[in-house]
Amino acid sequence: MRLGLVLWGWRSRFLPALSLRGLKTAPSQPRALVYEQHGEPARVLKLKDVELAELGDSGVHVKMLAAPINPSDINMIQGTYALLPDLPAVGGNEGVGQVMEIGSHVTSVKPGDWVIPVDAGLGTWRTDAVFSEEALVKLPANTPLLCAATLCVNPCTAYRMLSDFEALRPGDSIIQNAANSGVGQAVIQIAAAMGLKTINVIRDRPNLQELVDRLTSLGADHIITEEMLRKPEMKDLFKKVPKPQLALNCVGGKSATEMLRHLQHKGTMVTYGGMAKQPVTVPVSTLIFKDVKLRGFWMTQWKRNQVHNKDSLTGMILKLCDLIHKGQLTAPACTKVPLKDYAIALEASMQPYTSTKHILVM
Ligand SMILES: NC(=O)c1ccc[n+]([C@@H]2O[C@H](COP(=O)([O-])OP(=O)(O)OC[C@H]3O[C@@H](n4cnc5c(N)ncnc54)[C@H](OP(=O)(O)O)[C@@H]3O)[C@@H](O)[C@H]2O)c1
Repeated sequence: MRLGLVLWGWRSRFLPALSLRGLKTAPSQPRALVYEQHGEPARVLKLKDVELAELGDSGVHVKMLAAPINPSDINMIQGTYALLPDLPAVGGNEGVGQVMEIGSHVTSVKPGDWVIPVDAGLGTWRTDAVFSEEALVKLPANTPLLCAATLCVNPCTAYRMLSDFEALRPGDSIIQNAANSGVGQAVIQIAAAMGLKTINVIRDRPNLQELVDRLTSLGADHIITEEMLRKPEMKDLFKKVPKPQLALNCVGGKSATEMLRHLQHKGTMVTYGGMAKQPVTVPVSTLIFKDVKLRGFWMTQWKRNQVHNKDSLTGMILKLCDLIHKGQLTAPACTKVPLKDYAIALEASMQPYTSTKHILVM
């Protein structure tokens, strides 16, 4: 539950008591989803009792509230991701927690604040942790739980890709595949807030219309299936919307090749995911006659590049929180799962056509 000082009187029965450096709660045994070797997540992860590190002068005791299961978390545990922690490690790279206690030198957060990780690798699938102050960003008050838990990876990725590769102006269009992914849903909403038109490619499925309706309600302008992307009828679409200057590729394989065919002259395709596990094939004519640019993006690298400039990260988080508070950015469709049921959640999150993000609640 969020701490609200104004509501302290009537809420005090339900909230932990506040002191300058700590929220007083009955101590409970910290637990974490730990893996000691790489492998299939449901097999190698174990929910274990763990010791909390000493708070020290610069530590921050955080009680985790909620943390999503993202594809990169799975790949990290499988040992196939570009960033692998030393083992044993705690799973999870993003999430939101509440500050319970701070060391005497900590100034940027206080007990009661909600915080998210600055970078990947913290291990967020746990009930409690002591993190360093530098590893955390404070969120504005009243950020909804699911938005907070899913903010620091996908919306940030969407925001950077829409901002950093092409000088897009209101009325311009972008195209993206896996438009129903967490990143894709953030792209739709942030692009709409920027006045951009989105062409959203998704895979066909039995409940297609339900998904189309949901993405439309987020602000998607055009939604097409992978099959439609290959059809000559696409030229009718481009009577209504300009050819995209930017393509965002989460999939690879044929899907990426087909998006490239529709890109504007000198446009850019940014690859940020490889869900089809197939390479990107570029038609020679697209390179020669359209001079398209092929780029890649990795949020982790962007954050590393800002290591001496934490303000750029906090500035982006504040802009995204502003969109959230204005109702222009919501969390992706989510299914909340208690931490103890992690194996079910992991299994479900690895199934195709789910269109929901599984969130572990602690
Ligand atoms: N580079 C970065 O900095 C960065 C940052 C964030 C995320 N990512 C990457 O972006 C990708 C999406 O992440 P997310 O959290 O948004 O994922 P998510 O919410 O779990 O969604 C996964 C998406 O991938 C699609 N998909 C799965 N298998 C596919 C296949 N074989 N062919 C085509 N589409 C397929 C799913 O479509 P269906 O519904 O049709 O199954 C869904 O749209 C992941 O690869 C992730 O690692 C990269």
